Amino acid sequence: MPKRELYVGLMSGTSLDGVDAVVVDLAQSDPFVLAATGQPLEGALRSELLALNEPGIDELGRAALAGGALARAYASAVHAVLAQAGVQARDIRAIGCHGQTVRHRPELGYTIQLGNPALLAELTGIAVACDFRSRDIAAGGQGAPLVPALHSRIFGSPAEDRAVLNLGGIANITWLPCNGAVLGFDSGPANCLLDLWAARHLQRPCDSEGAWGAQGKSDPELLELMQREAYFHAPHPKSTGRDLFNEAWLSRHLAARSAALRPADVQATLMELTAWSVRAGLEACGDPAMLIVCGGGTKNRALMALLSRVLAPLRVASSATLGVDPDYVEAIAFAWLARQTVVGEAGNLPAVTGARGPRLLGGLYPR
Ligand SMILES: Nc1ncnc2c1ncn2[C@@H]1O[C@H](COP(=O)(O)OP(=O)(O)OP(=O)(O)O)[C@@H](O)[C@H]1O
Ligand SMILES: [Mg+2]
Repeated sequence: MPKRELYVGLMSGTSLDGVDAVVVDLAQSDPFVLAATGQPLEGALRSELLALNEPGIDELGRAALAGGALARAYASAVHAVLAQAGVQARDIRAIGCHGQTVRHRPELGYTIQLGNPALLAELTGIAVACDFRSRDIAAGGQGAPLVPALHSRIFGSPAEDRAVLNLGGIANITWLPCNGAVLGFDSGPANCLLDLWAARHLQRPCDSEGAWGAQGKSDPELLELMQREAYFHAPHPKSTGRDLFNEAWLSRHLAARSAALRPADVQATLMELTAWSVRAGLEACGDPAMLIVCGGGTKNRALMALLSRVLAPLRVASSATLGVDPDYVEAIAFAWLARQTVVGEAGNLPAVTGARGPRLLGGLYPR
């Protein structure tokens, strides 16, 4: 049997919906996924993490406690995915743990992902690679996005220009030309604003399949107000997060609208904003033959249909059509980034992040 190189990838993204975990064999250039699982974040931890996205009292102590609670949630996801794959902790070379972003301010020289890698190593008996973004920022980059290198490996084609869209809390685009440099950047908000508006008006964590938003009518005035946001017009490299696209941002734009709107119309406008910013982002890259979409937003049928409409005649397809489960692309990327850390190879693409050069990313907590 050929030698395996097994890694675990862990992702908990800006949507704060849960922890995705994969066991991946990285011995060949194409990652082979042995098992994948998604575990929801427990309600109190999710609320605390959301709260920690904003300045508050005793942030340091609370962040440390939340980091410990996250490590326990990560460990539980690791144990579940190992059992599913039928492998032991000792078979795994390292866990790539993204951690939970609570601040992302590359322009100020920092990004903060919570988690407690020492505790995770202790609870699992596996080495943990983490803090992948800081070194890129230290080298003058955005520290994000880091997934384009993996996108290039699994979705790139020598025959045609392609683009990848990850619809997470934030939407990010990867440009994969058949010749030339890979590009990648955050195009703007996706699920983070859709989820918070759905939570307020539906008392549910998200607008399932986008059914509610699909009943609304996008409002041109609100859309125009939101489109003025400087972030959309800035050139890449660029990255963003809840630091910008949060409740206060949305409330400010709603207050600037001349009259109140029906909540479903606001949701429809937010979907339109995502689709518009994706189109603007793609226009800054080139003319791809296909757009491969991954992330939880692929389950938002209304948003996917809107993207197809706004981007027509571009072919818009879930990564599932290329045999990669859209829910686990990011987790696979962090397994791959852990491997880069372990073997001592660069994980960033300087053309994407704007860093001064390729850098070995992450810190390693031995088993
Ligand atoms: N059935 C569904 N209908 C509509 N939206 C869904 C559905 N299932 C998931 N989603 C959306 O997908 C989101 C989760 O997506 P995902 O895990 O890719 O985002 P994330 O955790 O923010 O990742 P990242 O920021 O790293 O890209 C949920 O918060 C929700 O908005
Ligand atoms: Mg998620």
